[in-house]
Amino acid sequence: MQRIARQAQQADGFVFACTEYNYSVAPALKNILDWLSRLPDSQPLSGKPVALMGAGGGMGTSRAQYHLRQSAVFLNLQPLNKPEVFANAFAGGFDDQGNLHDEKIAALIGEQMNTLVAAIKATR
Ligand SMILES: Cc1cc2nc3c(=O)[nH]c(=O)nc-3n(C[C@H](O)[C@H](O)[C@H](O)COP(=O)(O)O)c2cc1C
Repeated sequence: MQRIARQAQQADGFVFACTEYNYSVAPALKNILDWLSRLPDSQPLSGKPVALMGAGGGMGTSRAQYHLRQSAVFLNLQPLNKPEVFANAFAGGFDDQGNLHDEKIAALIGEQMNTLVAAIKATR
């Protein structure tokens, strides 16, 4: 946890690539956010932009991502609004190794990364 806290402190922004379990955020990711929100001397997430993306079932982890946005309010994370990246993991867009072959999703991710860089520059 101390290593993650140090990395988060040093980061200018974040990419949360989240799965969805039973319509919500993967517990491991939520657990990290909860611990990072309770560090005694720092708030390593506060004020920093975060890009959200995910691959899951037919809804593309949208429900999990919207739950993440709710937690981001209290954490004072700054989630990018658009583009949203909701990928279907089971419709042929990924190969057996998990590599992405869906050109539309790849383009969205590229656009999202450019938006993240712009948001980070704007916070400096
Ligand atoms: C217990 C369980 C619940 C799941 N619930 C959802 C869900 O609500 N929505 C969704 O899109 N995918 C759901 N999935 C599919 C996962 O998001 C998908 O399997 C994802 O790639 C996670 O990787 P893993 O299967 O290796 O854990 C669920 C998978 C499991 C095992």
